[in-house]
Amino acid sequence: MKLTRRRFLQTSAGGGAFLAGAMPHIWSKNSDLVWAAGGEIKVGVLFSLTGTTAIIEESLNKATILAIEEINAAGGINGMKIVPVIEDPASDPATFAEKARKLVAGDKCVSVFGSYTSASRKAVLPVVEKQKNLYWYPTLYEGRECSKNVIYTGAVPNQQQDEFIPWLIKNFGKKFSMIGSNYIYPKEENNYCRKLLEKYGAEVVNEEYVPLGHSEFSSVINKFRQQQPNVIFSTVVGDSVVALHRQYKAAGLDPAKMPMASLTTSENEIAAMGGEAAAGHFTSAPYFEVHKSPENEKFVAAYKKRWGADKVTHFVSEACYFQTYMFKQAVGKIGKGDITPNTIREAVKGVEMIAPQGKVRLDGENLHTWLWPKIAQAKSNGQFEIIVQSKEWLKPDPYAAYPNQVCTEKGLVEKKV
Ligand code: ACM
Repeated sequence: MKLTRRRFLQTSAGGGAFLAGAMPHIWSKNSDLVWAAGGEIKVGVLFSLTGTTAIIEESLNKATILAIEEINAAGGINGMKIVPVIEDPASDPATFAEKARKLVAGDKCVSVFGSYTSASRKAVLPVVEKQKNLYWYPTLYEGRECSKNVIYTGAVPNQQQDEFIPWLIKNFGKKFSMIGSNYIYPKEENNYCRKLLEKYGAEVVNEEYVPLGHSEFSSVINKFRQQQPNVIFSTVVGDSVVALHRQYKAAGLDPAKMPMASLTTSENEIAAMGGEAAAGHFTSAPYFEVHKSPENEKFVAAYKKRWGADKVTHFVSEACYFQTYMFKQAVGKIGKGDITPNTIREAVKGVEMIAPQGKVRLDGENLHTWLWPKIAQAKSNGQFEIIVQSKEWLKPDPYAAYPNQVCTEKGLVEKKV
C-alpha cells in the first residue's frame, strides 16, 4: 500500500495516546503496511541457540515456535498469520541488544519474545524502551524492574520463595549456604532470600558467586562439606547447573541431609545432567512437566510431537507457550489498522487464560503475571514429584524486597513517607 498524505493523516489521527506529540511514531505511520496489509504480523524470537545458556534457551525458542505454529494452524489472529523472525544472540548480552535493535527497527516486529538471563533482558531494555516496542520475557527473575515496554510472564521472588523458604527451614533446618552465578539475578534473589531467612530466624553461612559458564565446583563443594549447611540455596544458571549437580554427586554428598534448593534447575537441565545427579534436590516453580491438567497434557504431547519424544517441558518453556497465547488474545482484541506495541500492551492488561500450570492473569498494574507456586523434588527418572502446590494463584509483587520503592510512569521511585 502506498502511503498517501490522506492515508498518513488518517492513520495518525487514529493512533490514540501513542501518537501524542508533534510527530507520529514510525509504528503508527507504517502499521497497516507492516502487519496488516499482507495478512501477517511479524514478531521477533530472541533466544540463544548457541553459548552457555543455549542449554535452556533453545527450548524457549521451541516452545514459542510451537505456540506460533498452533495459532497459525488454527487460522491465525483475525485472519493474520504470525511470522516469527528468529535470531540467535549467542548467550551474549551485547549481541542481544544488537539483534533486538535489528528486530524492532529493521524488521519492524511489533513485539519480541526473548531472553533467559536478566543480564540479557537488561541489555535489551534500553532498545525496546527507545523504540517503544514490547519485550515478552518468560523467565523467573529478581523483580525490581518497572518498564511499560516489558511483559513479564515468569515468576518473581515472592512467587518462588515465600512458600519455599519456610518449608525448607521446617523440613531441613536453619543453616543456609548460597551459591549463584555472578550477575544481577542471583544477587537480588539472594537479597530477598536473606530477608525471609531473617524473618524466620535462619542464617547464611556462606554466599558465593561463580562466573557464568563456570564448570569447576571443587572448592565450592569443599566448603559445603566443611560448613555442613542444612540447605544449599542455588541460583546457578545454564551449563553450570549440570556441572554443579554432577560434582556434588561425585563428591558423595547426600541430598537427604544437605539438599540443593533451586529456583533455576528445571527438567531441561536435568535432562542434560542425567536424572541420577538431580535426584533428591528441590526446585520451586509455578510449573513442572508432571503437573496434571488437560491443558498440560495437550502442551506436553504437542511439544514432544513437534520437537521429539525425548524433549521435556519446564517452567520457562511453559511461560513461553502461554505468553504467545496471551499475545494472540491481546492482538485479537485490536482492529487490524490499530496494531502497535502500545495498543498490544493496553490490550494484554488483565488478560486471563488457562495455561498448562492453571489459570494465569497478566496484572494490569505491574505487567507481571499471577502464577501458581509449587515445590517439587527431582527424581532419578529426570522428572519431578510435586510436593506442595499453592491453593491459590499468587499475585506478582516485583518490589517485595524494596517496599519503599514504587513503580510510576517515571520508573521506580522512592515512596514519600
Ligand atoms: C534470570 O537471570 N532471570 C534467571
